[in-house]
Amino acid sequence: MTRNWEFSRRGFIAAGGVATLTGLARGQEGVGRTAPAEVGDWIQHSEMPNNREPPLPRLVESWITPVDRFYVRSHAANPEIDPAAYRLQVDGLVDRPLSLSLEQLRGDFPQVEVVATLTCAGNRRYEHSRVRKIDGVPWREGAVGNARWGGVRLSDVLAAAGARSEARHIWFDGLDRIQRSSGEVQFGASIPIGKTGDEAGSPGAIICTSMNGQPLTADHGFPVRTVVPGYIGARSVKWLGRVHVSDHESPNHYQQNDYKLLGSADPLESAEAPAILRFPINAVICVPTAGATISAAGGPLRVAGYALPPGRPGVVIDRVEVSTDGGNTWLPTRLSEQSQSMCWRLWQTAVEVPAGTAGLVVRAIASDGTVQPTAVDWNLKGYLYNAQHRVAVVPG
Ligand code: MTE
Repeated sequence: MTRNWEFSRRGFIAAGGVATLTGLARGQEGVGRTAPAEVGDWIQHSEMPNNREPPLPRLVESWITPVDRFYVRSHAANPEIDPAAYRLQVDGLVDRPLSLSLEQLRGDFPQVEVVATLTCAGNRRYEHSRVRKIDGVPWREGAVGNARWGGVRLSDVLAAAGARSEARHIWFDGLDRIQRSSGEVQFGASIPIGKTGDEAGSPGAIICTSMNGQPLTADHGFPVRTVVPGYIGARSVKWLGRVHVSDHESPNHYQQNDYKLLGSADPLESAEAPAILRFPINAVICVPTAGATISAAGGPLRVAGYALPPGRPGVVIDRVEVSTDGGNTWLPTRLSEQSQSMCWRLWQTAVEVPAGTAGLVVRAIASDGTVQPTAVDWNLKGYLYNAQHRVAVVPG
């Protein structure tokens, strides 16, 4: 079901008149969960497992997101891994199964560094929940970050193992253990074999040991994780224990049942739906934040945020535009010089806001012509919410 948001001087009111975004500033949840705590500089959704996101104005201070400002999304406690005893297993449809120590990963393969944006499929679920209730971590707009990931190309490791011609999918198994009602499960994912190498000049998946030049932290998957540029964060498996080469997708719960766009809880619908892979275009206003007071007389206002191109090779953000009249007219913004596919682009502008302005809207346009949609269809788990971002401000 698609619901449009309408602009009104009292705020941004859902078409059914259900909720105003100004409630966000007052910390109303409206989604049947406890409000997240503010812990230090973080919006902490849960401590165990660790699920947290940074405040939006800090998120867009730099193109590369510092580790201490990078969201964390974990389904269970961090596993304790002894780096000296750690081995990455590579098996399945290969001629030479491997068991690689950290020293071998660092010494036996060319080391690469890739800049890529990681974003949780549930980013902006909180807003999506205002269309219709959704369970799950009520992420605001900060479950996204852009980092320099260091490690080895997955394709080099697969070549060393002698992946066979029948190989179609590469499974990643995490070493964490997640308690579900059905019992204990591992986190896992898989990607099509075509995503293991470079795609039209955009980097393929890497087996990653560093983030922004430092060893991965425990929260981000120490000692080894995958990073799959252009794909939702769930395919970048932390605490990686095994790479398995197969002719079919991973049977893991998080590939087969979760991270799918569903309209209902019907198991057949879930079985038939494809796993979400690439992330869609998105743009968010990070400054000002929802509920900020601005001059009632109008005047220049700094507006800034991030814009993510769709996770397809060669596609970048071309334009980001903001509106002070609910999307009737659009103004250009200034984009960060850093621009590459699979990575966000930061933007900012000084908008001359008319007296009494009650809200701002942003939309991004990508180099392949994709325009950020005004509204998106609701889905059961609240994934991939990328409707044009609206921020209510208070003329004061
Ligand atoms: N890998 C494991 N082993 N366990 C997890 O819970 N969460 C996934 C992914 N990899 C997860 C995982 C999800 S849903 C996301 S969005 C990213 O990790 C988040 O990565 P980050 O915590 O480093 O930001």
